[in-house]
Amino acid sequence: MERGNPEAQAHPSFGGVLRHQAAIREKLSKIRNKIGVYSAKGGVGKTTVAVNLAFALQRNGYRVGLLDADIDCPNLPMFLGLEGRMQSETLPLKPLEKDGVKVASTAMLVDDAKSPIIWRGPLIAKMLYDFLGSTDWGELDYLIVDLPPGTSDSPLTVMQVANLDGFIIVTTPQRIAGVNSMRAGLMAKRLSAHVFGVVENMSQGGPSPSTEEVSKALGAEIMGRVPADRRMADLSDSGKVPVLELAEMAKVFDDIAGKLPK
Ligand SMILES: Nc1ncnc2c1ncn2[C@@H]1O[C@H](COP(=O)(O)OP(=O)(O)OP(=O)(O)O)[C@@H](O)[C@H]1O
Ligand SMILES: [Mg+2]
Repeated sequence: MERGNPEAQAHPSFGGVLRHQAAIREKLSKIRNKIGVYSAKGGVGKTTVAVNLAFALQRNGYRVGLLDADIDCPNLPMFLGLEGRMQSETLPLKPLEKDGVKVASTAMLVDDAKSPIIWRGPLIAKMLYDFLGSTDWGELDYLIVDLPPGTSDSPLTVMQVANLDGFIIVTTPQRIAGVNSMRAGLMAKRLSAHVFGVVENMSQGGPSPSTEEVSKALGAEIMGRVPADRRMADLSDSGKVPVLELAEMAKVFDDIAGKLPK
């Protein structure tokens, strides 16, 4: 190991990894369903789907947590208008709460959530280990995990350490999104993870051939289509949750939520 190289020092030792994994397992042990929301392509609506699905589940009487697993660009708190900080002087870390949903993000640990996080893989992995192993969710019916885009280090680390029960793959009607969503789903499957289904976001109405193709390639149903609607972006930009404001969006996400394991 190189001396004085912070990235090299960030590699947890073998014993350290085992200890981290035991701590993470213990912290996630009272959660019935851990579900990742994922796509290899950026900007398709992973965070939007994760947020609205979490609140749809909460409205339906479930105990729900939302984990921001995007360490580089942790923007979940902005979607929720949550400006508070998780107190980190004493462990375990406690998620904040928004309208009955528990929320944790590394953006809630720092003073300036807008400053860029310029880290390489090993530091990101260590942050994820520490964050997951220190956050106490208590008993939950669902933990919805908002994953970063891509098929490399960051999402891979989350998949490996959080031992998720399965994934929802988000895509949009465009073919380029479809190809990358398929990639994401196939990566999850290669890691023996379950794909619950595909959500088409920014849907233009009728069935999109690209989404049908993704669904077929992954052997996973299309769980729902979320219409492209300017109000979705405007509400999210002002920290409001669309399913709590728009009856038609509540219906779309109630239907998706109803297809998840109980
Ligand atoms: N159905 C929709 N209709 C209109 N705008 C939407 C819709 N879904 C998402 N958006 C907007 O598109 C932008 C990208 O969405 P979002 O941040 O959820 O994508 P993402 O996949 O999480 O992105 P990233 O890869 O950067 O994490 C946001 O401004 C969001 O408000
Ligand atoms: Mg996102």
